[in-house]
Amino acid sequence: MTAQILDGRNLATGIRQQLKEKIAQHRQKPGLAVILAGNNPASEIYIRSKQKACREVGINAQTFLLPENVTEQELLSLIEQLNLNPEINGILVQLPLPTHLNEKNILENISPQKDVDGFHPYNAGGILQKRPEAFTPCTPKGILRLLDATRCKLSGLNAVVVGRSQIVGMPTAHLLLNHNCTVTITHSHTRDLKALCRTADILVAAVGKAEFITQDCIKPGAIVIDVGINRTEHGLKGDVKFADALAVASYITPVPGGVGPMTIAMLLENTYEAFLKQQHS
Ligand code: GUN
Repeated sequence: MTAQILDGRNLATGIRQQLKEKIAQHRQKPGLAVILAGNNPASEIYIRSKQKACREVGINAQTFLLPENVTEQELLSLIEQLNLNPEINGILVQLPLPTHLNEKNILENISPQKDVDGFHPYNAGGILQKRPEAFTPCTPKGILRLLDATRCKLSGLNAVVVGRSQIVGMPTAHLLLNHNCTVTITHSHTRDLKALCRTADILVAAVGKAEFITQDCIKPGAIVIDVGINRTEHGLKGDVKFADALAVASYITPVPGGVGPMTIAMLLENTYEAFLKQQHS
């Protein structure tokens, strides 16, 4: 079997084009504040692509670059100003934060209505309670769109999520559960991980280890979603050994060009949703 490639870049381009057309019909532009504390090189690359994507669809992105030694109070007072600023519809604090800052406290102080990353406890809990008004985190939301693009019926499928992060693994598992999948979450303490992975009709790899998922982890015909972005001496690698997935899976997302572009498209979509809601509030 040769798997079909689930082309996130192509799917994201379509979503961005549609958003651009919708945004052009408004007199005002949606506004997104992007905050980066410190100079994590990967974060700098991510926020540059987010800014560029915003510009292309007509979202006004304002970037706030704060020094590595910014105090929690300084960051909280910036967030407070942005919460009150009617021209700002979405607020994104790029993670990871410098270690002296309390991430939970920072995220909790973003207005839930402007939390387009979906990391505020209200929005994080909103997935569990199936609250339609809650923002869904961008990567999990993008993964569900990729699954949607396969046109496979998700209900009843066995899904295995490798990794239990707050940003990807946990919310993705809950979204899959909300779509009536039978979900297993695996992590570093899981026994016989490969055998569990082989039960998966949908395998989501979000461990952050290059080529961790090999052919012996993949059930023939499975849909494989690779969330990994690992910079190695052999270049950018996913969490899945791509050639192995190509040989046995039915679908595989490439790295780059799979989940990554969808994460950004979902950020734009969440920002537009925040803008619409704030027009009517
Ligand atoms: N760091 C890694 N992924 C993300 C994300 O989706 N949003 C933010 N804010 N930071 C991240």
